[in-house]
Amino acid sequence: MIKNITADIRYIGVDDPEQHLFESQYHTPEGMCYNSYVILDEKVAIMDTSDSRTLEAWKANLAEALAGRQPDYLIVHHLEPDHASGIAEVCTLYPTLQVVCSAKALQMMPQYGPLPTSPKGEERVLTVKEGDTLALGRHTLSFIMAPMVHWPEVMVTYDATDKVLFSADGFGKFGVYDADADDWACEARRYYFNICGKYGTPVSTLLKKAAALDIQKILPLHGPVLEGEKMAEAVRLYTIWSAYDVETEGIFIAHASIHGNTAAAAERLVEILKAKGCPKVAISDLCRDDMGEAIEDAFRYGKMICMASSYDASVFPPMYDFLHHLDIKAYQRRRVGLVENGSWAPSAAKTMRPMLEGMKQVEIVEPVVTLRGCMKDADIPQLEALAEAMMN
Ligand SMILES: Cc1cc2nc3c(=O)[nH]c(=O)nc-3n(C[C@H](O)[C@H](O)[C@H](O)COP(=O)(O)O)c2cc1C
Ligand SMILES: [Fe+2]
Ligand SMILES: [Fe+2]
Repeated sequence: MIKNITADIRYIGVDDPEQHLFESQYHTPEGMCYNSYVILDEKVAIMDTSDSRTLEAWKANLAEALAGRQPDYLIVHHLEPDHASGIAEVCTLYPTLQVVCSAKALQMMPQYGPLPTSPKGEERVLTVKEGDTLALGRHTLSFIMAPMVHWPEVMVTYDATDKVLFSADGFGKFGVYDADADDWACEARRYYFNICGKYGTPVSTLLKKAAALDIQKILPLHGPVLEGEKMAEAVRLYTIWSAYDVETEGIFIAHASIHGNTAAAAERLVEILKAKGCPKVAISDLCRDDMGEAIEDAFRYGKMICMASSYDASVFPPMYDFLHHLDIKAYQRRRVGLVENGSWAPSAAKTMRPMLEGMKQVEIVEPVVTLRGCMKDADIPQLEALAEAMMN
């Protein structure tokens, strides 16, 4: 369904409620949406296309918004296939349309297939760089390069007339457009740390550039358009997230337990921490809960405790997998406690420690606790000592 964002800007994005595994990895029970917009001015600009799954519906939305007009430009902010699958087709449909993108996007574009040539040999692609502008009539677009705000070719566009920022994947969210209407942060946070988490510095750089602009609305490629208080809150959170700062004071416990004894110890540790006045304790079963959610919580809280069974002289693979995710997502500046369990030669801590110590400014909090099989009363003082040390 198309809707008006401003007098001249139409939303032509498409919901994909059946997309339950976005990027073949992220559980998206509420589906996804691939946003796209049209600016109707003296010249007409289309802002990005769609995923191949939703291309037909997107083309119908586009045709409805154009109402017979010929588009002049297709602005490509990001070349990832969830937004760029319609480029070639739209170039065929509208032979005089010019694609506007960064030089890097032009370089990468052939990877996804050739662009249909223009019948009269007009230049098919107009590359733009930082600060370049494109006049549509009442609206003048300015382009801001945002390399590595997911991919290297990414740029965002500011329209000073309507005071809107087309923010590409930035400020995106899992879910169809209207999902979680009253709670943007929950799924936006999981999206941010899993999709953009590694790129905190480029996101910070983009936020600084955006701070110099008068922005009334943010128009992302996923999730709802943001304005007013919701936009201010989103910018506040992005400032924290991109700096790898602590959003919520508290401790996150991630456990991976083969037969449930380490899991039981984790539940007990929650009680110990709460009794000691820890402001918030979050817990995740890495074998059963959503991995993306565990990654989100690792970044959200200031401290983390990893608890795992030993496994084949190493650590139980769900924990190994989790720590590998944290490593590639640039987990940093956190204090981490370790609890291992082993029945004959405990090896989980020996594997977890170097993985964590290899991350930037991650400090292992002593004592590292070793459990043998089921937790016993004699183990409580060690868990108490770890809880105490974590809270200092
Ligand atoms: C396939 C497999 C491999 C294991 N490898 C080790 C090991 O290398 N060293 C060790 O001390 N215990 C090992 N164990 C025992 C587990 O660490 C044991 O399940 C744990 O100590 C009890 O905690 P849990 O109930 O949370 O799994 C292994 C268990 C399984 C099933
Ligand atoms: Fe992307
Ligand atoms: Fe995307």
